Amino acid sequence: MSALRNIGLLATGMAAGAQGEIRVLPDAALAWDDDGRITWVGPEADMPRRLSAWKSDDDLDAEGRLVVPGLVDCHTHLAFGGWRADEFVRRARGESYADIAREGGGILSTVRATREASGEELVERAAGFLREMLTLGVTTVEVKTGYGLDLHQEMKLLEVYRTVAGRVPQTLVPTLLAAHVVPPEYVGDRDGYVWLVCEEIIPAAAEEGLARFCDVFVEEGAFTAAEARRVLEAGRAHGMGAKLHVDQLRDGGGAALAAELGAVSADHLEHVSPSGIRALADAGTVGVSLPLASLYLDGPPAPARRMLRAGARVAVATDFNPGSAPSFHLPLAMTLSCLRGGLTPAEALDGATRVAARACGEEERAGSLEVGKAADFAIVDAPDVDTWLYHHRANACVATVIGGRVAWSADMEGEVTV
Ligand code: NIG
Ligand code: FE
Repeated sequence: MSALRNIGLLATGMAAGAQGEIRVLPDAALAWDDDGRITWVGPEADMPRRLSAWKSDDDLDAEGRLVVPGLVDCHTHLAFGGWRADEFVRRARGESYADIAREGGGILSTVRATREASGEELVERAAGFLREMLTLGVTTVEVKTGYGLDLHQEMKLLEVYRTVAGRVPQTLVPTLLAAHVVPPEYVGDRDGYVWLVCEEIIPAAAEEGLARFCDVFVEEGAFTAAEARRVLEAGRAHGMGAKLHVDQLRDGGGAALAAELGAVSADHLEHVSPSGIRALADAGTVGVSLPLASLYLDGPPAPARRMLRAGARVAVATDFNPGSAPSFHLPLAMTLSCLRGGLTPAEALDGATRVAARACGEEERAGSLEVGKAADFAIVDAPDVDTWLYHHRANACVATVIGGRVAWSADMEGEVTV
């Protein structure tokens, strides 16, 4: 048993009603058992004697700082080969993301680079990204395939994630996105590719227990609603939950489709319609806003405030990938969700913790600091959540704790902490 004491402000993230009601406790403490599960949380003055009298070598002192639940990045495309800085420059010169994709760049250029990369190279890179994400306080990460696009290559990516999960302290949630785009070999036979996804790739991934969710990119140039339905139903028949990339570049009725199919989340939503928002709220499907992708593509943000007003839940994630969102800085995405999506910092924090955990099936284990959940948290050098997200810094996190163990701290890097 160990404890974190001297917390200046603890944002517990416990469900207290509407999104953003994150139950904040001043002068708090937190205790957990040897399995890294939280056993007590509350004002330090109320700590029962059996806990306050107990001292362990693993006890931690927050030195009066802000403590928040470990951040949950519920939408990333973490394993990929190469980068696409050339496209960043082309877009700066006025070409659009869709034009570049039509000319064979975009996702297909990353597919070429990813297919050429060995599993071990991809493991090394993904582990490197995760180590940097750890310094930002990110403790749970959803990770999608989608740059392999054939049986062997998609399985390679899922195996990369299994290997990486054993090498980093974070919890990874793998998602099969074999239906990202139609690969070049199937351009004249898209039906053949959908068949391959449903009849070979999904069953193989399920047999190895390598994917929790199945995802489809629904967009002109990617997949239709009817194709998405086939893929997600096949995924469901093999025990995978459903997620969808929808309404990113135009309103394609994707939010309503996600709601109808009982998807756990509908992601992007930059162009979601009012009826799509209502459908998400009614179905309890989490809307995932990806403000870094909106920023990099110079598009509108997902209407996060309107979604909350309609009673939908809104997660905030990075969408980290080499094209539309080449950054894994989740706190920056949270700040952008305030600036461009109209969320308050408390709503953004809820969106990147409790709501995000729900969007990747981890709500029982992570997303808030309450008894029974994992002792996953970040110690932040800010007086409160509002100041943290308003005053954007390269990194305000000073320590990241996973399962009650310090997984990273600024001290370990030899940096001076205040
Ligand atoms: O979520 N929208 C589709 N897929 C990714 C982009 C992938 C890429 O550009 O490589 C996204 O934005
Ligand atoms: Fe994405």
